[in-house]
Amino acid sequence: MEMTPRLEAAIRWLASDNTVNAYIYDPDIMRKRLGALRSIMPAGVELFYAMKANPHPGFLAAAAKAKGIEIASLGEAEKAVQADFEPSRLIFTGPGKSMEELAWSVDHGVRTVHVESLTEAHRLHTICCERGKHQDVLLRVNANFDIHEAQTNFSGGSRKFGVDEETLGDVLPRLLALERLRFRGLHVYCASGVLNVADLLMNCKLVFDLVHQIEMANPGVECDIIDFGGGFGVDYLETGNDFDPHAYAEGLNDLIEEYGFQGRSFVLELGRYLAAPAGWFCTEILDIKESRSKKQLICAGGINHFRRPAALAINHPVAVLRREQKPWFDEQVSVRDEHVYIGGPLCTSADKLANDIYIEAADVGDVAVFGLAGAYGLSMSNIEFLSHRRPPEIVL
Ligand SMILES: Cc1ncc(COP(=O)(O)O)c(C=O)c1O
Repeated sequence: MEMTPRLEAAIRWLASDNTVNAYIYDPDIMRKRLGALRSIMPAGVELFYAMKANPHPGFLAAAAKAKGIEIASLGEAEKAVQADFEPSRLIFTGPGKSMEELAWSVDHGVRTVHVESLTEAHRLHTICCERGKHQDVLLRVNANFDIHEAQTNFSGGSRKFGVDEETLGDVLPRLLALERLRFRGLHVYCASGVLNVADLLMNCKLVFDLVHQIEMANPGVECDIIDFGGGFGVDYLETGNDFDPHAYAEGLNDLIEEYGFQGRSFVLELGRYLAAPAGWFCTEILDIKESRSKKQLICAGGINHFRRPAALAINHPVAVLRREQKPWFDEQVSVRDEHVYIGGPLCTSADKLANDIYIEAADVGDVAVFGLAGAYGLSMSNIEFLSHRRPPEIVL
C-alpha cells in the first residue's frame, strides 16, 4: 500500500500529539470516483451513496452530486438531512423498519421506501391511510441466484432480505392492491464486494428477465425504477484486479438496449466502491512479541475501532509508518521481512486486525496504517467494547 506525503504528514503529526488511533479521510477521493462514474454511466442510471459505508459529514458532502442517499435508519435520515439532502433525495432500504421510521418517510416525502415484505407494506399503507398520503415504493426481491465469489451474498437461498422471487405471483398483486402505495419497481441487491464485472452484469440480466416476466404477467404494471443495490468491489488483497467501471457501464448499456428498457431509472446504491479508498485507519504498535515462532503485533486499536477485517476474515492492505523510536530495552522484538499476526488491545481472541500479512519492517512505536478503510470502518465497529476512547476522524 502506498502512502502519500500528505497522509504521512498527518499521521506523523497525530503521533507526535500522542494520538494513538485515528481515522484519516480524504473525501475528495470519493468525490472524484463519484464524478468519474457519473460521467460514464448510461442514461437513466442514478447513483446514490449508501451512507452506511461512512456517515461522516465529509463523505456526505462528497456525495453532494449523487442523485441522493440510500438510508437504512432514522439516524441516517437525520444525518443526511443535516448534510442538506432533501428527503426527496433519500431512498429507504433495510429488512426491518420501525413504525417511527416508516412514518418519518411518509411525513417527510422520502423518494421511495423499499418494502421487504407484505407485513411491512401493510404497516406503511396503514400510516399512509392515517395521513391521507401516498408513498412510492419498490419491492425488494430475494432473487433465486447468487454470486459465488462475492464477499457477501444478499440473495439466493433462504434470506431475511425481501420476498422470495418464486412468491412474486402471489405477493405482487397483494402489494398492488394497497392503493396508497405506488408501486414503482424492484430492488434486487444480489451481493457486495464483487470485483468481477461479468458476475454483476449477469445479475442485471437476470433482474431484467424478472422485470420482463412481471410486466407480461401483470398487464398495466410497469417497473419504471430498477434498483440493483450496491456491490462494486475494491481490491482489498491488492491483486491488481480492480473493479472495471467502464466495462460495467458498457455492459449495462448493452443490456438496456437489448431489453428495450430505455427511459427507465436504474438505481445504484454504492458504498464501498466510493468510500473505501478515501480512508485509512492508523493505530500505534504498542508491543511486538514472538509467540511460538510467529510475531504478534499488538496495536492500540482493534475491533472496537476497525472490526471489518475480523468480521469478514480478510486482510486490508497495511503499511507501517516508521518512527525510529529508541527501544525500551535491548532485546525488544522487531519485525523484519516476515508474515505476522496483527491484533488489538481487547481481551478477546476475536480482536484481529490482520493475519499472515507480510511486513517489511516494524518496531514498537511505529504506526500501522490500514488502507481501504474509508468504508465500513468505524461505522461497523464495536465502539463501546472495553470503552476505549473513540478514535478521532481527521479530514485531510
Ligand atoms: C440495501 C443496501 N444498499 C447498498 C449497500 C451498499 O453496498 P456496497 O457497499 O457493497 O456498495 C448495502 C450494503 O450492505 C445495502 O445493504
